Parts: sequence; C-alpha cells; structure tokens
Amino acid sequence: MTAKAALSGLKIGVIGAGNMGQALVRGLVEKSVYPQNISVFDIDRKKLDAVRKEAHVRIAKSNRQCVSLSDVIILAVKPQILREVVEDIASGTDKESLVISIAAGVSLAKIESFFKKPVCLIRVMPNMPALVGAGMSAFSLGKHATARHRKIAEAILSAFGEYVPVPEKMLDLVTAVSGSGPAYFFLLAEKMIEAAYELGMKVDIAKKLVYQTAFGSGRILADSQEDPEDLIERVASKGGTTEAALKIFKKQGFGKVVHDAVRAAHRRSKEMREGV
Ligand SMILES: NC(=O)c1ccc[n+]([C@@H]2O[C@H](COP(=O)([O-])OP(=O)(O)OC[C@H]3O[C@@H](n4cnc5c(N)ncnc54)[C@H](OP(=O)(O)O)[C@@H]3O)[C@@H](O)[C@H]2O)c1
Repeated sequence: MTAKAALSGLKIGVIGAGNMGQALVRGLVEKSVYPQNISVFDIDRKKLDAVRKEAHVRIAKSNRQCVSLSDVIILAVKPQILREVVEDIASGTDKESLVISIAAGVSLAKIESFFKKPVCLIRVMPNMPALVGAGMSAFSLGKHATARHRKIAEAILSAFGEYVPVPEKMLDLVTAVSGSGPAYFFLLAEKMIEAAYELGMKVDIAKKLVYQTAFGSGRILADSQEDPEDLIERVASKGGTTEAALKIFKKQGFGKVVHDAVRAAHRRSKEMREGV
C-alpha cells in the first residue's frame, strides 16, 4: 500500500499546533491529504489561526471535538501535559481509533494507563528537521496496534521525513542519537564559524560556508552507500589540510567526547522516563 493510499479518506486530528504539530500538518497537506480531512486543536488561538491560514485545515473547538472528527489522533503536546489531554479525550476514543504520540519520554504503558482502557497506540520519537520535512522518526507499536495501523503511521511519518521501526526499549537511545543529534551538528557548525571568525573571516561569509558545507555533507551521508570513514578518506589526501585537521580531532579526543556525550544523553533520557 502506498502512503497516498494509506492516507486516502483518513480523518486525522492533530492536538497541539506548535512546532511539530504545524510541521506535520504542512507535510500531510503536501502529501495530498485533503485539508478538510485534517482537524487541529490548540489552546493557543494564534497558532490555530496561523495553521488555518497556511494549510486551510479544519479548526476544532476543543480537543474532544478534534477527536470526534478523526480516525487517527496525533498527540503533539508537551510531555508534561499529555496526561491531562489524554484524560480529557479518552472517552471520545474507541477500539477503532489510532492514537499516535510524539511526546518525548512518555512510554506506551504510561499513555495506555492515562487512557484507562485498551487503545491502539503508536509512540514516535521524531527530530527537529521534521520542521523542514527532513526529519528522522523512530516508532514503536503498542500492544493493540495492528499491521494496518503501522501502515497508516508510516504514511503519516513519511510527511515528516524518514522513519524506522524500533522496539520501545530502543527509544532512549534513539533520543540520544537522532532526537538530540541535530544539536550536535549545530554545535560543530557554531565552532567552525567561531574558528573562521577568529582567523579573520566575516561572520556572514563563515556562516554561508559552514551551512552549505553541512547541507552538502548531510546530503552525501543520506544518499551514499559509503561509510563515513570512506567518505572522510575521499576528502583527506595524504599530507593535506584535512589530514592536519583530523590529526587534531584525534589527538584531542573528539571520538571520546562524542561517545561520552551520546552516553550522557542516553542516560538522561532513561532518567527522564523514570521521572528522575
Ligand atoms: N521540537 C522538537 O524538536 C521535538 C523533537 C522530538 C519530540 N518532540 C515532541 O513533540 C511534542 C511537541 O513538541 P513541540 O516542540 O511542537 O511543542 P510546542 O511547540 O510547545 O507545541 C505544543 C503546543 O501544544 C499546545 N498546548 C498546550 N496545552 C494544550 C492542550 N491542553 N490542548 C491542546 N494544545 C495544547 C501548546 O500551547 P502553549 O504554547 O500555549 O502551551 C503548544 O502550542 C512534545 O511532546 C515533544 O516532546 C519535539
């Protein structure tokens, strides 16, 4: 089944029209979901007006109405208010409804406990490039979700970018790698801009060089069959400039810094899930 076929005629409700909710609505409309099949609710009227203006979707009067208009409900609110939202909408869902949560760190079991009844649930960990349709999402199925629900979720996630199924216990690591990952690349970009500035380059020129280099390198990584190690070799010629830079990265422990950073993010994700 193609993404288009899976989404055809489906009524989708988005609760929370913030960064992620709006990105999803935008992506779904671009994927040819008929705007009037998408209902959105947010407590912030301004965000609803913005999303209606941009995407011409239906604006629900409440979370409950959003649910009553939809076959699939996407929970795109912050994790700390998920419980309140679910308790409000639970009575409007039935065993046919599919609920997709993108709230970071809230387990399938916890969300099910908020519903206080069996529910077809899918939990997703997206990342920030979803805002430009280039996101990386990992998802896990709840125990009542079927193969049909999975197809629907995949079609919806394709509006965000790429996706991969993982067992739920892997989602903490996903959070540490692709969830937090954009910030690691942004940090590298920031430091390269600072270094170029210190060496005499204007900031706007340095930004242009670094941003386009990041974009092009990202495209090669995404499209290429080669490992990063091989790609590095293609840039670094013997005795050249790249090799000089790579020697410093190695000598000063760049690899260990990255490993430690990912490990810290992983640990923190587990702590947050456990409520520490
Ligand atoms: N942003 C990311 O990079 C990212 C990455 C991975 C996962 N996520 C997950 O995605 C979810 C959404 O994140 P976001 O960045 O889009 O957050 P956001 O921009 O704050 O959007 C959430 C929206 O929900 C609204 N809201 C609050 N209470 C509500 C209620 N009772 N009913 C309906 N709407 C309500 C908020 O309004 P107010 O602002 O007025 O409260 C806000 O407009 C979060 O759970 C987050 O963990 C985000």
